Amino acid sequence: MKVLVTAGPTYEKIDPVRFIGNFSTGKMGVAIAAAFAEKGIEVEFVCGPISAEVPDSPLVHRTDVVSAREMYDAVMERFGTCDGAVLCAAVADYTPAHVYSEKVKRETTGPMTIELVPTQDIAAACGRQKRDDQFMVGFALETCDEMAHAADKLRRKNLDFIVMNSLKVQGAGFGVDTNVVTFVYADGRTEELPLMPKTEVAREIVKRITRK
Ligand code: C5P
Repeated sequence: MKVLVTAGPTYEKIDPVRFIGNFSTGKMGVAIAAAFAEKGIEVEFVCGPISAEVPDSPLVHRTDVVSAREMYDAVMERFGTCDGAVLCAAVADYTPAHVYSEKVKRETTGPMTIELVPTQDIAAACGRQKRDDQFMVGFALETCDEMAHAADKLRRKNLDFIVMNSLKVQGAGFGVDTNVVTFVYADGRTEELPLMPKTEVAREIVKRITRK
């Protein structure tokens, strides 16, 4: 068995020294890669710029990317060769329409505007190509109407289940070592897990995939 795991943020370049990013550290994705490797499962690990330490295992094949576009290309190249994917990366939804070749100078007065264009939805692209023998798991992090958004993403991206985490719950979200998640399945079932280390959340995800 071989699975694809995406992790971390993406950086969208504005000029040679600036980018648009997010607070993802890649911890959850790293924990998922480690949980698969623990079970002897090979992992194609595609990650944005992360600080979390990637498991030093011959089963984990790491590919580093920076932007949403690079992550899209790396994932599309590998998805077809895998039995499925866990898409954990916090991919930028928008990227600057134009990358300045020189550092943008501060104007003396007035606001400054950067035009943004949408990036490709990697999960949705994989969802369109997904074969019957492949599984797909996504993540959802919302600040409101979590359940409705999760159910919508599940359908739009053709996922088997989605791991929903809320930023409002203490011990969940960016940077911390714990998470509070609810699994939302394609048939509408939900399963709420208590606060637990991300390493344990990862094992619970892998358990549900490997027993499928
Ligand atoms: O950004 P959104 O909340 O729609 O993300 C939900 C899921 O889709 C996550 O699993 C995320 O990794 C994935 N995603 C992606 N490519 C994007 C945006 C999100 O793969 N451009």
